[in-house]
Amino acid sequence: MGQPRSIVILTGAGISAESGIDTFRSAGGLWEQHRVEDVATPEGFARNPNLVLNFYDMRRAALANVAPNPAHEALARLERAFAGELLLVTQNVDDLHERGGSARVLHMHGELKSALCTACEMRSPWHGSMIDRPPCPVCRAPMLRPDVVWFGEMPYEMGRIYRALESCDLFVSIGTSGAVYPAAGFVQEARAAGARCLELNLERSEGSRFFHETRLGPASVLVPEWVEEVLSRAAE
Ligand code: APR
Repeated sequence: MGQPRSIVILTGAGISAESGIDTFRSAGGLWEQHRVEDVATPEGFARNPNLVLNFYDMRRAALANVAPNPAHEALARLERAFAGELLLVTQNVDDLHERGGSARVLHMHGELKSALCTACEMRSPWHGSMIDRPPCPVCRAPMLRPDVVWFGEMPYEMGRIYRALESCDLFVSIGTSGAVYPAAGFVQEARAAGARCLELNLERSEGSRFFHETRLGPASVLVPEWVEEVLSRAAE
């Protein structure tokens, strides 16, 4: 493949695993520790808001104990040095891409460090807890919820993502199991548009058959290697 002009990167929980953040579907992962229906659905929130607010308060507070790894840092290097179009889409709600140096990150599933007001629907940066029902920074109503996209809800910026998938010539998926749509369908969208599709993952994912190439291994090794390849080819 010649030098890519336009790249779309999709990351999942696997890119943050080596930073000490549990993935969802691994043995002992988040979805073994908690019932999805209880902590990741609007119905669960309506049923037991304290359980849900506490779950995300804990995950938000735990961000202080983790740091970006070489995979996050390599993608920030690519963002700074790549002359073509680059869109970094993450399913992750942690802030490790930004702390790794990426300036332009599209969080399609929301962010732990953001609050969504169910009264005025405004999103506000949020670093503390929500369990004591603090007022919304915009409308002052005590109606905040975690700004995380739950099952059954529409992810953010889907139009922008699909436009980028239709025009990219390289799609790269990093650290995701391909178990959750619409993200799991991005490879087929990109492939249908003629893009080359590369997967970097610890193990084969549910969507591996759609990729032209799958490289197996830890993100902290595979991602810096791949970024070096792209940047050294650009320098030729
Ligand atoms: N390096 C690379 N890949 C890894 C690593 C690692 N160090 N550790 C784990 N992985 C891979 C696993 O092999 C698995 O395929 O990361 C993937 C993690 O899969 P999931 O736990 O299913 O997480 P993800 O794909 O991000 O989940 C998608 O599901 O629960 C919802 O909204 C949540 O955004 C999440 C979505």
